[in-house]
Amino acid sequence: MRQEQQNNARERIVKGTIVTFTDHYLANDALQHIEDGSVVLDTNGKIAWVGASDDLPTRYSGYDIDDYGDKLIMAGFVDTHIHFPQYRMLAASSNGLLDWLDRYTFPEELKYSSDSYAEAAAQKFLEALFRNGTTSALAFSTVHSSSVNALFQAAQEKNMALVTGKTMMDRNAPQELTDNAQSSYEECQQLIDKWHGKDRLHYAITPRFAITSTGAQLRYAGNLLQDNKTCLMQTHLSESLGELAAVEDLFPNARDYTDVYDAFDLVTDRSIFAHGIHLSERELARLSEAGSSIIHCPTSNTFLGSGLFKIAAMKDKSRPIKMGMATDIGAGTSFSMLATMAEAFKVGMLNGYRLSAQEAFYTATLGNAEVLKLSSDIGSIENGKWADLIVLDPKATDVLANRMQLSDSIEDVLFSLMLLGDDRAIQATYVAGALAHKNGH
Ligand code: GUN
Ligand code: ZN
Repeated sequence: MRQEQQNNARERIVKGTIVTFTDHYLANDALQHIEDGSVVLDTNGKIAWVGASDDLPTRYSGYDIDDYGDKLIMAGFVDTHIHFPQYRMLAASSNGLLDWLDRYTFPEELKYSSDSYAEAAAQKFLEALFRNGTTSALAFSTVHSSSVNALFQAAQEKNMALVTGKTMMDRNAPQELTDNAQSSYEECQQLIDKWHGKDRLHYAITPRFAITSTGAQLRYAGNLLQDNKTCLMQTHLSESLGELAAVEDLFPNARDYTDVYDAFDLVTDRSIFAHGIHLSERELARLSEAGSSIIHCPTSNTFLGSGLFKIAAMKDKSRPIKMGMATDIGAGTSFSMLATMAEAFKVGMLNGYRLSAQEAFYTATLGNAEVLKLSSDIGSIENGKWADLIVLDPKATDVLANRMQLSDSIEDVLFSLMLLGDDRAIQATYVAGALAHKNGH
């Protein structure tokens, strides 16, 4: 299967208006914009050349051409926080995070004890990502090792860069969804040995959050992170006020929520914390010092009523924090990173930060790739990087087409796409040089 996919990554030229970032969005000329540009893909699924079509070297003149006219060619989106087993439970109304977990999430995740269920779900999950232009993700699986195997296997068949891990939970969840501290350590290490660094797959140590792990399990998670120096760690931090109160009860000796993880060596530069809405100044300073990342999940935060994320708090020059952006499916209400950026813009407007299109697109591509420590491989259109590309149609809907008549700059085209676009604007998605999705197919 994998071989077939790679063969599908044949030499070809993808033509259109190239939009990419070569550097941090604040740097001069970080946003590159090449009208009538070409990206040359090699048989390994990597980018061999990028530039103006007029400058295309003659050695590529025999290659097949996928010509997208004036549509935009960008690096695929990277989603840095998404739950694979929640792919079909969007829009479940609740009284907030903890109620939502008990009422809808845990019952759905229980189904992943079945291998065949997990395998079918993995296919659906990847289809949803590609349809929305997401070519890489950091995903939670369930507590079952088999769910991790199913997702890695499906991603490997697509030669996709994917990071996931077995959710560790040894309390405050249905008994069939819990492991125990020692067994979770052993199962995770086996999964790391089996998958981490194979093809484009990476493992993330995944304690769900402080409420569903004992101190003993968090200790094991910290040990796993220290023993496996190239693995990432993902968890949730400071999402809802009800959660904060429960964490305080469970860990009365901790200074604050961040300190709970810190006590078990889980606050590092390989640590990726989803949400971080209600953090104190002390916690923000500590996360900055450690080099950890915080992932803004705006559609989830508004849907669950968790709170308004403060982008400005991440940008404080005295203690900057690396920020990613993500859907957080299934608390998030859209697989689309465009819809996610739109919600981030609106949350920012309610909370003292006007998010530019430049920053939003940077964060959803190269910025998120940096969070995953994959920015030398993905996140922008550069020679030698993987050909994980999307084609965006700025006139995909009537509303967008009308709006485009007023657009006179690439920044404005991108802003309109982020506010008004969704999966209909994703004309095509390439993963490792192979066509993984085409609109209408
Ligand atoms: N906190 C712990 N588990 C979850 C989850 O599945 N979704 C969200 N949004 N928050 C969580
Ligand atoms: Zn989450």
